[in-house]
Amino acid sequence: MLLAFCALATAQAADKLVGGPYVVNPAARSATIGWVLETGAVRTGPEPGEAARRIPVLSSGKISMTGLKAGETVYYEIPGDAPVEERRGHFKVAPTGRANFQFVVFGDTRTRDDLHRRIIQAISKTDPDFVIHTGDLVTDGYDTSQWPVFFDIEREMLRKTVFFPVLGNHERNNARFYDFFDVNTAYYSFNWGSAHFALVNSDVNNLSPGKAIRERFWQDQLRWLEDDLSQNQKADFRFVVMHHPPITANQVPSHMSKETPTLIPMFEKQKVTAVFAGHDHNYQHHLKNGVHYIVTGGGGAPLAAVDQPIPGITLKVEKVEHFMPIRVEGGKVHMQAVALDGHVIETIDLTAPPPPPDAPAK
Ligand SMILES: [Fe+2]
Repeated sequence: MLLAFCALATAQAADKLVGGPYVVNPAARSATIGWVLETGAVRTGPEPGEAARRIPVLSSGKISMTGLKAGETVYYEIPGDAPVEERRGHFKVAPTGRANFQFVVFGDTRTRDDLHRRIIQAISKTDPDFVIHTGDLVTDGYDTSQWPVFFDIEREMLRKTVFFPVLGNHERNNARFYDFFDVNTAYYSFNWGSAHFALVNSDVNNLSPGKAIRERFWQDQLRWLEDDLSQNQKADFRFVVMHHPPITANQVPSHMSKETPTLIPMFEKQKVTAVFAGHDHNYQHHLKNGVHYIVTGGGGAPLAAVDQPIPGITLKVEKVEHFMPIRVEGGKVHMQAVALDGHVIETIDLTAPPPPPDAPAK
């Protein structure tokens, strides 16, 4: 295996490993191993020399690996002074074709750390090949004291899988999200086996105070998404992930996205299998014109009532902490929503439709 060192951060003696290691941003033959160090702290207070508040200084480490082989398991060890068992991890490279695989979707892990920790313990038992986070990882992306807490809670899961987060409004478009998770573009897609995944940035409001800039971003993203989905019509399944749900049973106007509901006609035209979102802190499943819309925002944030199911569209709602283990096997996908107490909220089994004969190759 050929390792290409694109970036390397060497831990200093005083540096403390507070995040990772984890694997992000994989492509067909490459992936990034990342970790986060605390290199010191800034102390602030109301008087000179009075340290009422401690603000950690964080630094990311990254290394890009190339030459990976589809379906192989890679073991790694990052540098540093932490005990070796804390610096080790492993991950699977995405397989190609109709390989079997399993993944987890969950989100909204902010604020209630104890619930977040229990959700991660439950997810870790399912041994997912990769994990998708639907956003709002932390309460405030600008607060450097919150990221080490997030990473501490997710440590045992992250070091054994591949992580795909989407930006939530609570990240506030902070640069650390892009830095830590090696997110080089605000929206992107990937293939895993016979499934295609498109990850959308729905947090338009935090992008810029300028309306023209926000609108241009959204139009650029729309064009990309339509092209991306149309180029992947031969995939068994097309999944789209975003933070703000296009359809929700939580009808709080100030809470809703203006943009994501406008994507519904495109999802229908491009035969999207399912859209996973977060933002509303509960479980919701809606089915409209063949597209499943799932809200999975039960990762620890304070629960929200599901107060307005939509007649003829809403299939299941539950106000509960949960996550979604999903298995893809031989042209079928088996999705479950599992509550923190272990009860299965809902099971969704789908079979891949035959691909259109004139569709572009995957
Ligand atoms: Fe949110």
